[in-house]
Amino acid sequence: MSAGTSSLELDEKPKSSPPPAPVIRFLKGAELLGQCPVNPGETIVDHAEACGISLPTNCTSGTCGTCMVSLILGEVPLPEILPPGLDDWLVDEGARLGCIGKPRGDVDIDIRPPL
Ligand code: FES
Repeated sequence: MSAGTSSLELDEKPKSSPPPAPVIRFLKGAELLGQCPVNPGETIVDHAEACGISLPTNCTSGTCGTCMVSLILGEVPLPEILPPGLDDWLVDEGARLGCIGKPRGDVDIDIRPPL
């Protein structure tokens, strides 16, 4: 122990920075269009608007599929019963509906639907 080092200093927990805030990134193929922090409870469309990206919408209730995008990375939980705008095979291809899909954690979205 060097002179001047108190036991308090030795007992201090190492300072750690908080984990980085989750980020949603919007891509069109390999092109990054924008990114912004994930705000829990907000939809993909809300996040796109915050990033200055306009996603097409129509019903805004999960019915029409106009807002369909492709989930490339991360988690956008689905409702237990799929809405009319989604089918199982589309979900298998990574489809999510921007108007009702709420990202959880870091997420990469291709604004193109998986068709
Ligand atoms: S706008 Fe119709 S399903 Fe999203």
